[in-house]
Amino acid sequence: MDYQVLKHAHAGLAYLSVTLFATRAVLSYTRPALLQARALKIAPHVIDTGLLAAAITLAVMAGLSPHNQPWLAAKIAALLAYIALGTIGLKKLHGSPWRAVVLAAAVAMPIYMIAVAKTKLVWPF
Ligand code: HEM
Repeated sequence: MDYQVLKHAHAGLAYLSVTLFATRAVLSYTRPALLQARALKIAPHVIDTGLLAAAITLAVMAGLSPHNQPWLAAKIAALLAYIALGTIGLKKLHGSPWRAVVLAAAVAMPIYMIAVAKTKLVWPF
């Protein structure tokens, strides 16, 4: 498999993932019933599984490891934070003002990860 093709697939899935998550975050305020739609429940799992499978394949193909690439370790840590904040923000804290803060922090994670991926720096700003 071609590394560049896989990298573009990974990046494309990453943009799709963050767009879909931000859409679901907005819908949870404006049209919460829509979040129960089958497509909106399944699509994030399919996209995120593909995103992660491509990520691991890229890292293996390039011989990159979080042990010797701090930016990769930072991405993995941010991924775990994205999953935790996203789950708490969408599924818990209903009626709490903290929900918006948690959702905003969740959306910030993949944006940070994109910047890290492009610069290979733990602090890319
Ligand atoms: C939400 C999660 C993620 C997002 C938003 C994301 C985003 C991106 C983007 C946009 C690129 C392309 C960078 C470029 O244009 O050069 C990229 C590359 C890459 N990502 Fe991710 N990524 C995510 C998760 C991960 C994870 C968990 C890993 C590691 C297991 C990973 C490993 C890589 C690798 C190895 C590359 C290729 C680096 C290169 O060859 O230049 N990504 N990522």
